[in-house]
Amino acid sequence: MTLLEGSVGVEDLVLLEPLEQESLLKNLQLRYENREIYTYIGNVLVSVNPYQQLPIYGPDFIAKYWDYTFYELKPHIYALANVAYQSLKDRDRDQCILITGESGAGKTEASKLVMSYVAAVCGKGEQVNSVKEQLLQSNPVLEAFGNAKTIRNNNSSRFGKYMDIEFDFKGSPLGGVITNYLLEKSRVVKQLEGERNFHIFYQLLAGADAQLLKALKLEKDTISYAYLSRKVSSVDGMDDASNFKAVQSAMAVIGFSEDEIRQVLEVTALVLKLGNVELVDEFQANGISASGIRNARGIEEIGEMVGLNSEELERALCSRTMETAKEKVVTALSVIQAQYARDALAKNIYSRLFNWIVNRINESIKVGTGEKKKVMGVLDIYGFEILEDNSFEQFVINYCNEKLQQVFIEMTLREEQEEYKREGIPWTQVDYFDNGIICNLIEHNQQGILAMLDEECLRPGVVSDSTFLAKLNQLFSKHGYYESKVTQNAQHQYDHTMGLSCFRICHYAGKVTYSVNGFIDKNNDLLFRDLSQAMWNAQHPLLRSLFPEGDPKQASLKRPPTAGAQFKSSVAILMKNLYSKNPNYIRCIKPNEHQQRGQFSSELVAVQVRYLGLLENVRVRRAGYAYRQLYGPFLERYRLLSRSTWPRWNGGEREGVEKVLGELSMSSEELAFGKTKIFIRSPKTLFYLEEQRRLRLQQLATLIQKTYRGWRCRTYYQLMRKSQILISAWFRGNMQKKRYGKIKASTLLIQAFVRGWKVRKNYRKYFRSGASLTLANFIYKNIARKFLLGLKNNLPASVLDKNWPMAPYRCFTRANQELQQLFYRWKCKKFRDQLSPKQVEILREKLCASELFKGKKASYPQSVPIPFHGDYIGLQGNPKMQKLKGKEEGPVLVAETVKKVNRGNGKISSRILLLTKGHVILADAKNSQVKTVIGLDSVAGVSVTSFKDGLFTLHLSEISSVGSKGDFLLVSEHVIELLTRIYQAVLNATQRQLPITVTDEFSVRFKENDVAVKVIQSPGGGGNGKLSCKKKGSHHLEVAV
Ligand SMILES: Nc1ncnc2c1ncn2[C@@H]1O[C@H](COP(=O)(O)OP(=O)(O)OP(=O)(O)O)[C@@H](O)[C@H]1O
Ligand SMILES: [Mg+2]
Repeated sequence: MTLLEGSVGVEDLVLLEPLEQESLLKNLQLRYENREIYTYIGNVLVSVNPYQQLPIYGPDFIAKYWDYTFYELKPHIYALANVAYQSLKDRDRDQCILITGESGAGKTEASKLVMSYVAAVCGKGEQVNSVKEQLLQSNPVLEAFGNAKTIRNNNSSRFGKYMDIEFDFKGSPLGGVITNYLLEKSRVVKQLEGERNFHIFYQLLAGADAQLLKALKLEKDTISYAYLSRKVSSVDGMDDASNFKAVQSAMAVIGFSEDEIRQVLEVTALVLKLGNVELVDEFQANGISASGIRNARGIEEIGEMVGLNSEELERALCSRTMETAKEKVVTALSVIQAQYARDALAKNIYSRLFNWIVNRINESIKVGTGEKKKVMGVLDIYGFEILEDNSFEQFVINYCNEKLQQVFIEMTLREEQEEYKREGIPWTQVDYFDNGIICNLIEHNQQGILAMLDEECLRPGVVSDSTFLAKLNQLFSKHGYYESKVTQNAQHQYDHTMGLSCFRICHYAGKVTYSVNGFIDKNNDLLFRDLSQAMWNAQHPLLRSLFPEGDPKQASLKRPPTAGAQFKSSVAILMKNLYSKNPNYIRCIKPNEHQQRGQFSSELVAVQVRYLGLLENVRVRRAGYAYRQLYGPFLERYRLLSRSTWPRWNGGEREGVEKVLGELSMSSEELAFGKTKIFIRSPKTLFYLEEQRRLRLQQLATLIQKTYRGWRCRTYYQLMRKSQILISAWFRGNMQKKRYGKIKASTLLIQAFVRGWKVRKNYRKYFRSGASLTLANFIYKNIARKFLLGLKNNLPASVLDKNWPMAPYRCFTRANQELQQLFYRWKCKKFRDQLSPKQVEILREKLCASELFKGKKASYPQSVPIPFHGDYIGLQGNPKMQKLKGKEEGPVLVAETVKKVNRGNGKISSRILLLTKGHVILADAKNSQVKTVIGLDSVAGVSVTSFKDGLFTLHLSEISSVGSKGDFLLVSEHVIELLTRIYQAVLNATQRQLPITVTDEFSVRFKENDVAVKVIQSPGGGGNGKLSCKKKGSHHLEVAV
């Protein structure tokens, strides 16, 4: 939006036509009625209190004013805050925001809006946010303790506040420092009709819960407290209870500990309770009036709460100790004096508590000393006041406002005009009222009102307010801005509004009549030492710390500086501070006296417009130049706008500036070249320059960006290229390695195949023959396996079973036979192994028999199964027969009845034959007489027939004794057994194999002759034991068996 488009009236009074007081007021009124409360005079903001919440604040508006420049949007306090903050950030200039106006004009609100804007736009982050919170939260705390309802303002600041917000180079808040100026402490004990004490008292009573009230020994009702106005206890639109909660939480946010908050509340309660200490006359013997305390309970409670001896407190309140170099004198105080002392104590406690709170806040928000910081100061000081009854406080307040007006005049009117002259710019002087003379009247070191007051306070002798007034009257009788009854009389003026004890000062903002009553006292600001000592003696840490002078060790007889002197010096410091910074003005205007929305009292506003010097401000502004700057810095800032000066300029600074502005083809109306500075008439031109600079900066930034991006892309490309080459080298290497590996593996595979193929090819020749062999082997093995399995399953059950399976193939025949043999042998061995020795013996005999007779003698097979019995005649049970054995040792091997063939005649007779180990004994069967004993060594041989018969011949050796008788021809039924045993007996006895001859013809020796015996087989086949002998001749015997 441009300056004029759609605006209500003019947004900048510089554009006002015609420029008169009336049109100015009309413009303000028109805008006010259209709810446009802000208007510019150049860069000064005029704000008219709307007394209503307008929808022009909050985050959306903050964002809007952050994005646009000063003249692009409607006038707004945010725009001013933005300019100040941007200038602080970008141009590195410390700023101060001077908010002036009468009480109720909206200064405090304006300061809060500025702070909230700055807080919203400055840096972010946890740390920064906490600093911001602390800074913002200091407001409700200070307002609770330092603001009160007055008739002009429900939330009137009763102290001056200057807050330095400190920022780092980025524009983020680091912390701050608050300076407070003279709290209106008289309010603690007394308020005007329709006014209230400080908010905190009401907030405490309304907001504290029962427990806290009990702890503080307070009652909820404000009526109970003498220091609280009885008529007004609440303020419209102000919720004391919830404000109390807000104050408590704000204190916590700032960093007050719970203990500190409690102590602050205790001291606050103490002030309230002190007001209820009633003092009464007390009789004293010497007739001098004295005072005492009526309600001891109240003072006891105070004592309990702050750990103080109530008697000591009472003594301090009701008496005074005068100390001289030599002695101490205690004098009793009258009731009036004691009440004065009590009120002085209450005021002192409260104002010191307030100072302590400010210091405590400063402690929390203070910035480390090492950090480089930029500062934005916000000044919200009590406004100019004209009351019915103006006292020392109003005097001081108005003095301060006078000084601020002076700053304004100095910086905007005088300094500006002087500068034009200095710089040789053609200039028609604009007249304005310079309030320097009033400031001088008040603050002059030797002859100022404050100096007079101090002098009067320090002067020995009788001093009173009237002596002070007399002094003023005398000194300023001719001063144009000082009036009193005396000076009026002298000038024959009669003004009934002027009292005798009054003087009047024609302030820049109007004439104010001050009553001198209390000036001396208030300036002295003395507290009886008894009281400060009593407070110092309290156990309450906070209260005690508020009265360091109460410490007897610290006690000094030196007077503290007076209140006036203190205030003057702190104002001087403030002024110095303000002059060092770039000022931004907010001129607050109160539209009506009734705090009513929509009401615009032209008269009231006219007064303010006049004394604020707005019209002069507009005139100077209009005739003058909105902006000036030394050539050097200006060139530095804007030389980038011209190709001749950018990037290098070797000429003079002024020429450089001319070059830059010439190239931009600025109208000469807009510019003036001073001796050292360039002046630019309208802000628009400056904004145009700034805009051009911004665009150019963007271009340059783009260039830098372009170059940088190009460089970055190139570097990146190079890097990528290098990397790509590296990667591809690696990749190729790797690929080749893999390929090589594959080729190698394939080669090996092919080689293996070829070799295999070759080998197979060679092998194939042998393959079939080999195959047949393998097959044959396999078949053979299979057949063999089958054959062996067949054998295994069909093995004969015993040795006697001769059914051995046939070999299925001829090739197995031998093996089969061998297996058969093996099998039978094995079987026999098994059989043998289980035989007992006796059975072995029997079988041995049988074996022997077999060797002797098997296949030779026909009766042999029959003998095989029959075991050799040996004793066939019952030898065992027959002792008679036993005897036949004679003395021969050992057993009888055979005992049987045999037949003896007579060799001569062939007759047969029975004989008993006993065979022993050494002999064959023949005995008569009938009488058992031994007939013959043949030693076995005599037996030369045996002949036996091949038939089944039992005939045999014992051939005896001829040399033996028995042999002489000839051989014996015997028939035995057990011929096989008998002969076998004889054979064995001979073998055993003589180690000689007895020849046993199986023959059918043999010769038997008879004495000298041999008889040839021929054995024939009878048709019956023999074997029945029957035998017939036929003698054929003398040498032949035929035996039929
Ligand atoms: N911009 C605003 N919007 C809405 N109301 C406002 C605004 N400015 C001021 N007010 C109203 O005016 C009242 C008085 O304003 P403020 O307390 O700022 O005055 P002041 O100039 O600080 O007075 P004093 O010198 O007494 O401290 C505020 O309590 C508020 O109700
Ligand atoms: Mg205020």
